[in-house]
Amino acid sequence: MQKEIHLRYQEYKSENELLEAFKKLVDAAKAATNSSYSPYSKFKVGAALLLDNDEIITGSNQENAAYPSGLCAERVTVFYANAKYPKNAVLAMAIAAANSQGFLPMPITPCGSCRQVLLETEERYNQDIPVILYGTEKIFVIPNIKALLPFFFDKETL
Ligand code: THU
Repeated sequence: MQKEIHLRYQEYKSENELLEAFKKLVDAAKAATNSSYSPYSKFKVGAALLLDNDEIITGSNQENAAYPSGLCAERVTVFYANAKYPKNAVLAMAIAAANSQGFLPMPITPCGSCRQVLLETEERYNQDIPVILYGTEKIFVIPNIKALLPFFFDKETL
């Protein structure tokens, strides 16, 4: 029997079309690219999280001369948010990326390891985390992390 999995997401042309709270988060993620430490890839990624205490937490990718020791913007940000505010659910996340030419026209999506970590946060607070993926030409809004990680592995499997 053949089966299919569908992903439903929103596509926008400009951040001005977004909900005000999402636009604010995108602007915070864009600003966070400035704190990227990425001398090796020269690829600056910024992430911003909205918490249920109204705090916006931002972070960026942090690289290392021992390449695998670096960490993506998404995990830097979510680990910091969960460490500083362990009682507060994450309500939404925005991601932006820039290379030497500036912000990318098409959004980037979190890597597999970041999806796995974000899934844990989504389940930990029992709260969907919509992800706003920023590009200058297109912006995607994905309804939750589970949608980005079909056939995910989580604690129910243990
Ligand atoms: N990177 C992120 O921070 N987030 C992503 O979603 C993809 C990749 C970083 C890791 C590395 O510092 C650089 O971008 C190039 O892969």
